[in-house]
Amino acid sequence: MSLLSDKISDLQKRTAQALLGGGEKAVAKQIAMGKLPARERIRQLLDEGTFYEYDLFIQHDAKEFGMDKKILAGDGVVIGTGKINGQPVAIYAQDFTVAGGSLGSMHARKITKIMDYALRMRIPLIGINDSGGARIQEGVNSLAGYGEIFFRNTLNSGVIPQISVILGPCAGGAVYSPALTDFVFVVDKISKMFITGPEVIKSVLGEEIDMESLGGARVHCEITGNAHFFAESEEQCFKQIKTLLSYLPANNKVSAVVKKSEEPDKKFKIEKIVPADATAPYDVRNVIKSLTDSSDFIEVQELWAKNIVVGFGRMHGKTVGFVANQPLYLAGVLDCDSSDKAAKFIRFCDAFNIPIVTLEDMPGYLPGVDQEHAGVIRHGAKVLYAYSEATVPKITVILRKAYGGGYIAMNSRHLRADFVFAWPTAEIAVMGPDGAANIIFRKEIMEAPDPEAMRKQKVAEYKEKFANPYVAASKGYIDSVINPADTRKFILQSLEISVDKYAGGPSKKHGLPPF
Ligand code: HXC
Repeated sequence: MSLLSDKISDLQKRTAQALLGGGEKAVAKQIAMGKLPARERIRQLLDEGTFYEYDLFIQHDAKEFGMDKKILAGDGVVIGTGKINGQPVAIYAQDFTVAGGSLGSMHARKITKIMDYALRMRIPLIGINDSGGARIQEGVNSLAGYGEIFFRNTLNSGVIPQISVILGPCAGGAVYSPALTDFVFVVDKISKMFITGPEVIKSVLGEEIDMESLGGARVHCEITGNAHFFAESEEQCFKQIKTLLSYLPANNKVSAVVKKSEEPDKKFKIEKIVPADATAPYDVRNVIKSLTDSSDFIEVQELWAKNIVVGFGRMHGKTVGFVANQPLYLAGVLDCDSSDKAAKFIRFCDAFNIPIVTLEDMPGYLPGVDQEHAGVIRHGAKVLYAYSEATVPKITVILRKAYGGGYIAMNSRHLRADFVFAWPTAEIAVMGPDGAANIIFRKEIMEAPDPEAMRKQKVAEYKEKFANPYVAASKGYIDSVINPADTRKFILQSLEISVDKYAGGPSKKHGLPPF
């Protein structure tokens, strides 16, 4: 045996030892919990044979509480690079089989190393979270580690896409890394995210709650809005990540991979989807599918704030972000949650040079004490800010209702939409005809011999005057009133001529969005 082959067999022994993670028993426990081991997760997510692991031999340097006698394989986290859809990505996956994936200083250093690498190479970062949180034995060094991660999440924000995948516990301050990233993926029964766990809640507040009801996958997809994609299984989750990444650029200086242009599926016929009766509901996702190549559309935050729909599609092979009021829920109004959802999505598109198509059909902001007290003024302002600030090509199509603040907020000309089109069914007014007539003709209605007949007459008069697109068209607030069947054609033409759009603003350090 040569010296080299001795060294190689030593390397192989060390590698095999490190790859055991927390050992067979811990791995068996992980699988019994319905969870995949960390490296298997990476293997399933990445293109076959593309993963290169770094820092396999990292060891912690903690001494207290018996830690000086413990060897923790890879310090409980796997980092490396690979490819998804043929495109490079940087990835880390916490290994719960090693000290519960808890985060000590070397564990954090591995994560921050791959984050720095992702930023330097300008490639997307994916973090798989499965951890008991700050490693208790390492005290403030663990907290310092989290701080370093949060700082880098912020630094990377808007430069590379950052994706968090929650595949186990993500407890305490650990939740703030996912919260600082762009997209959070969760899996039913597996993901658990919370600041304070059930035991703390019981001891402080005396309330009993199980982990699933407190911060399970459904809770974060349907109630809090902290998560963006819900999956039934890890396998389904990995498919979702691959699909999402196919729409995204690797960084803020390049475009997403351009696909072959395809016509929409003929079953999504635009004229048949939207009823002319302004009060009849319809699913706006079908309108989006009538516009996109092959009718493909990946919806973001599908289960939360359903009164607005946001997501990605392609037109002529290029990625487009869609923001659309959803008449199926709350008549598509803007409220606190839908404003937050839209604003974050608009800012993502703007940061990554993805043109935004807005489909408008809504009666305004949601009225009521609950909304006012929940801060609809502050939340609603985020939509105005996000659209006004965005310099990517911005195209609006008004399908039916565009009332009041909603008309302005949904990417109106006044917030610097590049193109505003309206269907002949559009109604652009300060408020709906009923409310408007009741206010401005109140005296005449009250004093009429037949108030109800007079009210109807005044509503009809108001409708005739304002509930159409032509007043706005006469002022140039909309560019064209178009045949709905031509919508894709008009959007494609607008996208084509705005490829080199330039929109400068005043010099400043940064603006102050209504956070
Ligand atoms: C050190 C930890 C740990 C931690 C788990 N382990 N969490 N070790 N620090 N935070 C270890 C366990 O001791 C155990 O080691 C192994 O991981 C597996 O844990 P189990 O408890 O056996 O697993 P399970 O029953 O599945 O329970 C998982 C769990 C529970 C719900 C996550 O471990 C738990 O409640 N952990 C503590 C969670 C927590 O409070 N973290 C701190 C949050 S505060 P052995 O050797 O027995 O296998 C925080 C502040 C950050 O994170 C602030 C940043 C700003």
